[in-house]
Amino acid sequence: MSSGGPRLRVLPASAWAATVADELLDRLAAEPRLRVCLPTGDTPVPLYAELAARDAARSPSWAQATVVLLDEWAGLPPGDPARCDVRLRRQLLDQLAPPPRFVPIDVDGSDDEAAARAHDAAARGLDLVVLGLGMNGHVGFNEPGSRPDDPTRLVRLAVSSREAATARYGAALTPTAGITVGLGRILEATEVWLLVTGERKADVLRRALREPEGVDCPASYLRRHPRLTVFADEAAVAGPRRRRPRAPGSAA
Ligand code: PGA
Repeated sequence: MSSGGPRLRVLPASAWAATVADELLDRLAAEPRLRVCLPTGDTPVPLYAELAARDAARSPSWAQATVVLLDEWAGLPPGDPARCDVRLRRQLLDQLAPPPRFVPIDVDGSDDEAAARAHDAAARGLDLVVLGLGMNGHVGFNEPGSRPDDPTRLVRLAVSSREAATARYGAALTPTAGITVGLGRILEATEVWLLVTGERKADVLRRALREPEGVDCPASYLRRHPRLTVFADEAAVAGPRRRRPRAPGSAA
């Protein structure tokens, strides 16, 4: 398929999760052995809630599918509530019956490099990679400085990512490193979906789609992919609403 640029689907916030869920389930129906890489983070939470709520009798089965985890903190013990595998299981996988096969990132502190190499093998030949977009332009833990041919690897985390572990997800300690499926594996996948919601993401989405590609915004490399779809809500495209100047004499 030749590239006409990313497919940008702009959806009302109220329809966003249901529309992305419909597309994913259509994909699963057409390809029951789908090998899909899934992220954690706040953006996919409504999507996962929607998928979990779909009537199992009428949804295509996940039984033959494989879910490969996108990224994981290094240094958080197995079972830590902030672990990406724990959150993806809780938000989605444990609610699918029958569940897909799950490939977490097997990092327990004993040999993080070996865990990254093993996951690099698991992340080859993906049919679909679903990504969130970080405020600093990262996808997965491919932080600024990442390159388009990077393999799955152990990386140092940006400060904003470290802080998310404790401030947002309640990690017992602040991780400084993580393992992420690399941009090289993402760009090798058959198809890539970028999920972007909320007005605070508008500026980074504009950078990712419109500014020259480069290491400052790793998501910009996704435009190299011939089958990139961006599922954005209206706020992520419109950006902050400008306040209307108050009419003279109107109440405060
Ligand atoms: P968010 O994070 O979905 O929680 O906004 C996305 C990311 O940082 O990759």
